[in-house]
Amino acid sequence: MTVSYKRTNYCGELRAEHVNKTVTLAGWVQRRRDHGNLIFIDLRDRAGIVQVVFNPQVDPVSHDLAQKLRNEYVMALSGTVRLRPKDAVNPRLATGEVEVYACSLDILSQAATPPFAIEDETDASEDIRLKYRYLDLRRSSIQKNFFIRHRATIAVRNYFDKLGFLEIETPFLTKSTPEGARDFLVPSRLSRGEFYALPQSPQLFKQILMVAGMDKYFQIVKCFRDEDLRADRQPEFTQIDVEMSFVTREDIISLAEGMMVEIYRSTLGIDLPTPIPRLSYAEAMSRFGKDAPDLRFGMELKDVSDLAARTEFKVFKSALESGGCVKAIAVSGMKEFPRSRQDELVDYVKVFAAKGLAWLHHTPSGLTSPIAKFIDEGILREIATRIGSNAGDYIMFVADKPKVAHDALGNLRLKLARELGLIPADKLAFTWVLDFPLFHYNDEEQRLESEHHPFTSPLPEDLPLLDKDPLKVRAQAYDLVLNGTEIGGGSIRIHDSELQTKIFALLNIGETDARQKFGFLLDALSYGAPPHGGIAMGFDRIIMLLCGATSIRDVIGFPKTQKGICAMTDAPSPVDLKQLRELGIKVDLG
Ligand code: AMO
Ligand code: AMP
Repeated sequence: MTVSYKRTNYCGELRAEHVNKTVTLAGWVQRRRDHGNLIFIDLRDRAGIVQVVFNPQVDPVSHDLAQKLRNEYVMALSGTVRLRPKDAVNPRLATGEVEVYACSLDILSQAATPPFAIEDETDASEDIRLKYRYLDLRRSSIQKNFFIRHRATIAVRNYFDKLGFLEIETPFLTKSTPEGARDFLVPSRLSRGEFYALPQSPQLFKQILMVAGMDKYFQIVKCFRDEDLRADRQPEFTQIDVEMSFVTREDIISLAEGMMVEIYRSTLGIDLPTPIPRLSYAEAMSRFGKDAPDLRFGMELKDVSDLAARTEFKVFKSALESGGCVKAIAVSGMKEFPRSRQDELVDYVKVFAAKGLAWLHHTPSGLTSPIAKFIDEGILREIATRIGSNAGDYIMFVADKPKVAHDALGNLRLKLARELGLIPADKLAFTWVLDFPLFHYNDEEQRLESEHHPFTSPLPEDLPLLDKDPLKVRAQAYDLVLNGTEIGGGSIRIHDSELQTKIFALLNIGETDARQKFGFLLDALSYGAPPHGGIAMGFDRIIMLLCGATSIRDVIGFPKTQKGICAMTDAPSPVDLKQLRELGIKVDLG
């Protein structure tokens, strides 16, 4: 069928100012209602919904045809925009003041009955929504996310363009880049038995672009990581990847802040206040128990080790004697704390290796609990003052090694704040986290590992510690955190091949291994490397937070399920034997 209409307007844009205009619209049937003689169609396109009226007195042919329309049929019509009668105005619809009197109708496609209704709110399971993603994406509550995502993409490109950055594409068929996840591998047909790795990030290439004199690089780029999925993690995701030469950490931080300001201004019209506050890693861990702290609410962790040392409570004393600490949080808004809830919270902190959870109830007449008898009244009061608790609060303690106490209380703080509704949903709490440790210790493999990646430069003042106490060395690294989610991270890099070799040695990456994995980078660094640094922002996560979505799947066109499957195409799937033979691959599931 040839197209016999030319669309003049989107459905969702019609307003009172269009009254008396003749328009041609096209879209999907949201709903049909027959009212005696008149047939009403709610017609939907990406801009919204408008009511169309078929009246047999206006055009009997199209009125007859309109009786055939069903939900999700695709149609085009011409007609005149009219003001609705006063009592028929629909204030819930942006177009609710008007309707279109149709004088012609084309049915362009019929539609099978969809497995779920195309409504903003749906109770369809996510599996069904992802299997029929094209239907899911018709819902305006999801479509609006892609408008925001598009605006943000344009804002980012303009921002970097204005500052003289070049967008340069880096390869997808490449060698492994160590970012801490597993690689997705792609078998090579021409080099049988060998594999490309899909990039976990363009890290090595962007550093090499600096050696190549490109000076300012950015890219909006897909990255691939084979890791367990969560609400804020996908196996393929998008980074805004940035690298610059001849810069300090301050330059990259203010560059990234400027970008966030642009994104918020152009999408939501919000003026973000800058500079964004900063925390050191040590402070973030000590006050919030997390390296990506949620600063939308208080409930900070307080160290009460000195006070705990002056009690007779065995649990506290023995933790302190073995070099641990006692830390606590004050929890407001808990009406009661029955035994079952106590047991639940003890089980919860045990997941993070804590041995238990001690507590005090701050009542108007003092602090009470089964452990209060081991503690002097004066010390009880000092504890309450230190923690800043008020009557009605519960004070919860974990006594353990700092790592365990932070982990347990940091997670408990988040869990209780969520459950008690203490997190203000409309608040934006950005923070930089700086001075990460360069290494952490992998107990299982008994060796140092990079906290970020092995190309991160140590803080110059910590260089002497590299040999003496490498776990104390801090990195010139920075993470940007929003509402407790890490939305970006980067560092100043090592541009000196000698220092790079030394770091590999500390990481127990032997010379042959280093040459085989990153020889090309080491070579490049030896041919005149400028000092350089950069950052990568998690674009999907930023958009998720901008849209107020709870999962990055809601801001990605065709995301994978929690099990890493594309429910629509059924990828991954088996391949032909012939294809495997060409690649020299035998599948062995044993
Ligand atoms: P990093 O590994 O911290 O740094 O990644 C940068 C940002 O990417 C986002 N991110 C993810 N988003 C969705 N799904 C995932 N699986 C996922 N993994 C990471 C996070 C994170 O902050 N090359 C370095 C950057 C640099 O040093 O310049 C890198 O990739 O928001
Ligand atoms: P117990 O003496 O083991 O019966 O513990 C008394 C109380 O202290 C219980 O409420 C335990 O949950 C709690 N508790 C035990 N170990 C710890 C610990 N390491 N830190 C905080 N509380 C603890």
